[in-house]
Amino acid sequence: MAKYEFPKDFWWGSAASGPQSEGRVAGDGKADNIWDAWYQTAPEKFFNQVGPEKTSMVYQKYQEDISLMKQTGHNSYRTSIQWSRLIPNPFTGEVNPEAVTFYNHLIDDLIAAGIEPFINLYHFDMPMVLQENGGWLNREVVDLYTDYAEKCFKLFGDRVKKWFTQNEPIVPVEGGYLYGWHLPDERNLKHGVQVAYHEALASAKAVEKYHALNLGGTIGIILNLMPTYPKDDTNPADVKAAKFVDGFFNRSFLDPAIKGTFPSDIVDWLGEYDLMPTYHQSDLAIIKENTIDLLGVNYYQPRRAAAKEIQVEPEGENGWMPEDFYTVYDMPGKKLNPYRGWEIYEKGIYDALINIKDNYGNINCFISENGMGVEDEARFINADGQINDDYRIEFIQDHLKWVHKALEEGSNVHGYHMWTCMDNWSWLNAYKNRYGFISVDLDNEAKRTIKKSGYWFKEMTEQNGFSD
Ligand code: BG6
Repeated sequence: MAKYEFPKDFWWGSAASGPQSEGRVAGDGKADNIWDAWYQTAPEKFFNQVGPEKTSMVYQKYQEDISLMKQTGHNSYRTSIQWSRLIPNPFTGEVNPEAVTFYNHLIDDLIAAGIEPFINLYHFDMPMVLQENGGWLNREVVDLYTDYAEKCFKLFGDRVKKWFTQNEPIVPVEGGYLYGWHLPDERNLKHGVQVAYHEALASAKAVEKYHALNLGGTIGIILNLMPTYPKDDTNPADVKAAKFVDGFFNRSFLDPAIKGTFPSDIVDWLGEYDLMPTYHQSDLAIIKENTIDLLGVNYYQPRRAAAKEIQVEPEGENGWMPEDFYTVYDMPGKKLNPYRGWEIYEKGIYDALINIKDNYGNINCFISENGMGVEDEARFINADGQINDDYRIEFIQDHLKWVHKALEEGSNVHGYHMWTCMDNWSWLNAYKNRYGFISVDLDNEAKRTIKKSGYWFKEMTEQNGFSD
């Protein structure tokens, strides 16, 4: 029997985001973000036409939820402040008092319960009034975001000691400018690159503000790292393709956040294909000097890449796309989450951590998301109304074994957060895939019931590990 014991004070908990969990109530003062607005104009895009107002009602139920977090072994919890709730009109910068009250209560009650709040500032939720002005494509948003970040630090930074500038900055690029999952639903790689650049600059400026305030905490970013494997690691063309994919999707975000620079191979590629973003020379010093203290690693699945013969002209009608430079390799026999269709490759979490150890100065990090989305999860309900999600317990254990191995080999990994606590609303997929430790009955006032995995997590975290 093997034993997997984790360090004392390991951060155990879960992650969520404001836009996916809070919901809306009359009079809360929140303005629309891109999700509210998109749902109003195109509800058919959302699974079962369920929109963002119908989230798991954390705005109303946060006290009950904190008690449920205790019952499921949390010592920490990540969520995000909604920009469009705190500052309904970023052009005036006026703060919404209802929002301050809500976030103060949430933060204070979490701390009182012994659950450390990890607060993120941006989780795909561009205020609509800014999106109408170009969103991240417009450089003006960088300074408006920095003002918003500074206000958050001043309002809540006396108690919140772990801040994150953004969640998965590649996703607004992919969603908004490549694949059509987010507004503005364009297909324009050059715009996507500009957005990624503005996000990196905004993150560095927020880090600068935070450090200048000397509030005694740490600030980081949360990246969805997808270790990339070549189809055939003895074939130099496949290896080159995988290096490109890793560069575009991972290193373009890891490098500026941790090293303060952009990867030179990707910069060369941007130059070669006329994709360079517009920038000011002085930005580069800001990015260089304001690197993060702590990295959140979201890990769900790897990428697999094979070589592609690069054409002289883009393949599609929308100009160059990343897929013009590599072939997505669908590896036969790969293990799948049968419900969500994503590959399950547990060793990827270890590879991501070892990469950070070996190539990014072994910066302090933690697993900020990992999880298993399951469609129609209600079919696993037992007679007591509890979901028997043994598959989720197995999924977590299998990943934790690799986290443990990384720790043994010297990784500075400090915690593990599951996505998510309450089943929550998930962008275009709405409630299709359930991820939580706690189920939410949408037909019954969002009634919460702890799943088997929630009880298991409590036991596991009390022992700071498990045996198998
Ligand atoms: C993460 C995001 O990448 O994946 C979450 O940070 C998201 O916001 C989660 O909900 C799960 O993805 P999905 O599409 O299955 O809900």
